[in-house]
Amino acid sequence: MLTQANPGVVVLGDSGDAITTNSEAIVRVESLRKTFRSGEQEITPLDGVSFSVDRGEMISVVGPSGTGKSTLLHLLAALDTPTSGTVYFERNSLFSLGETDLSDYRNRSVGFVWQRHHILPDFTASENVAMPLLIRGIALAQALRTAGEWLGEVGLGHRAGQRSGELSGGEQQRVAIARALVNGPALLLADEPTGDLDERNADTIFELIQRLHESHHLTSILATHNQPLARRADRMLVLVHGKLAAGEQSFFAGAAATAARPAVAAATIPGERG
Ligand SMILES: Nc1ncnc2c1ncn2[C@@H]1O[C@H](COP(=O)(O)OP(=O)(O)OP(=O)(O)O)[C@@H](O)[C@H]1O
Ligand SMILES: [Mg+2]
Repeated sequence: MLTQANPGVVVLGDSGDAITTNSEAIVRVESLRKTFRSGEQEITPLDGVSFSVDRGEMISVVGPSGTGKSTLLHLLAALDTPTSGTVYFERNSLFSLGETDLSDYRNRSVGFVWQRHHILPDFTASENVAMPLLIRGIALAQALRTAGEWLGEVGLGHRAGQRSGELSGGEQQRVAIARALVNGPALLLADEPTGDLDERNADTIFELIQRLHESHHLTSILATHNQPLARRADRMLVLVHGKLAAGEQSFFAGAAATAARPAVAAATIPGERG
């Protein structure tokens, strides 16, 4: 669980192999490989990635741009299929599930927050949050009531009836977080949830995610380029060249080499090693 001083940040060993084999694991990623083909070119953003995540953990995924963070999250959400390897959720291999079970998994077991919130601007905040409940077949009045409660949880109870397009970026991200959690998922996946926000809003949204992670006993996996926020997770996974890397050093060396993210490359890390 999260601790103030953040002593729990662990970086993977050289093997990049499974980091816990604990029976508490809610997610287990096994030899995950994903290749994209574009004309003659083949790109393999994930080249045999294995790790597991215990129930209740908050994990950050970092790595240079284009290194496969979004690809990994999409596979964890079963929004895409791997070239080989698999993801177990509560002991079920996602890619062996039938369409109905997969839809249930996406709708009920996982909440996904994107960098760009994908909120429908012409619908009210509560209508946006109610969508996953309506998809699940909950009646409109009940769905809107539950959505209103969730908007209260993210500090937007008073804006429930407002057209979403009129909300600020930070407020729209709060709506997106409420929408991700309204069905009570066990797993929260977030792909650069603070990437479009200024520093102050990024902090506020991260703190909101941390608070909800704890109060709703979530397991959370967040991809981020924001190093200070990444280090506040229980554990940090570093993706480089399709593998889980030996440590933060290689990530920042890689970032410096590609100059992909100068702010990250310039950051210093005071000697944290797993
Ligand atoms: N549908 C696709 N078809 C072809 N290539 C793809 C596809 N999706 C991703 N890629 C490629 O896979 C690689 C990894 O992409 P991904 O989006 O996972 O990186 P990322 O780590 O999330 O990067 P960023 O930090 O910029 O968000 C990139 O080279 C990307 O161009
Ligand atoms: Mg990405």
